Amino acid sequence: MITKEIRNTLLKEKDPFTDILGQGKVKQAVKSALLSDRHIILVGSPGIGKTTLAKNIAKILGKKTPFVRVQGSPDLTVEDLLGDIDPIKALKYGSLSIEAFTKGKIFKADKGILFFDELNRCPEKVQNALLQVLEEKKATIGSYDVDFDIDFIFIGTMNPEDTSTEKLSDVLLDRFDLIYMHYPENINIEKDIVVSKGKKIDNIIVSNKLLELMIYFIRLLREDKNLEKKPSVRASLGLYERSQSNALLNNRKNVTFDDIKDVIISVLAHRVRLKPSIKYLQNPEDYISSQFEKNIVDSDVLEEKKGDLL
Ligand SMILES: Nc1ncnc2c1ncn2[C@@H]1O[C@H](COP(=O)(O)OP(=O)(O)OP(=O)(O)O)[C@@H](O)[C@H]1O
Ligand SMILES: [Mg+2]
Repeated sequence: MITKEIRNTLLKEKDPFTDILGQGKVKQAVKSALLSDRHIILVGSPGIGKTTLAKNIAKILGKKTPFVRVQGSPDLTVEDLLGDIDPIKALKYGSLSIEAFTKGKIFKADKGILFFDELNRCPEKVQNALLQVLEEKKATIGSYDVDFDIDFIFIGTMNPEDTSTEKLSDVLLDRFDLIYMHYPENINIEKDIVVSKGKKIDNIIVSNKLLELMIYFIRLLREDKNLEKKPSVRASLGLYERSQSNALLNNRKNVTFDDIKDVIISVLAHRVRLKPSIKYLQNPEDYISSQFEKNIVDSDVLEEKKGDLL
């Protein structure tokens, strides 16, 4: 499946996944899985780069290797994925004729990658159809059995904390290797991510000290025992971008401490969830404000505190 050329790239290049910063172990695992043509699922919380990594894999594979993306959602049907057979035309022309059979997305992934984003958001029926294809290279569409003589590597993503989802069955999971992604390893990597991926607004300057302060606060919240949902890299990006906008609105060329303070609720309160033990005592807005007041009194405090964290 993986061409010689791609094999060489994977073997020779130390870091072919340049869109993802850090995550060395994850990259190594992806390389190893690709080299042995194995199906994988990238597992992790929202906003830690699963989709970005999968897109980066597509980039490496090049235009010649098909890369088909399926977005997992409760509306996804077996027909979307596998195809649909028109019973009237099937009688006339045969069930697998061009006239009767509209091929689903999975066929386009032949000799390439089927990228299934948010696999655990799709209904059980779709999971079962996928299982059948992976297992037997056959599936049932309506009342017809169809051969799926297609060869592909499956790359899925899933967020294990997503509660609005279907549980993946053990038999399905047994077909994959799981690769676990984590929040950026340290404050410096997260800073690099924010600066390289975040929007720069009208050349507004964000000093290194204030950038560290934003990311430090977010990383502090990730360690917070009272939170069951933690802020992702998107939250760091949010503080970076919104504080620049605030500076612009105030006709300043530099972000100030107050520009950050003014946006923390809007960027962070909905991105965290308090544990039930504290949820009834405090709302997320107040919690975030109080944590900011308590930990980030001013930017100088950071210099002393940063050392113990991260
Ligand atoms: N390690 C990283 N290197 C580079 N960019 C990163 C990294 N982690 C997160 N990001 C950035 O964070 C943002 C969110 O990433 P992405 O959409 O890939 O996350 P995800 O894990 O697919 O999230 P979701 O589960 O919500 O779909 C992107 O802008 C991405 O560039
Ligand atoms: Mg994603």
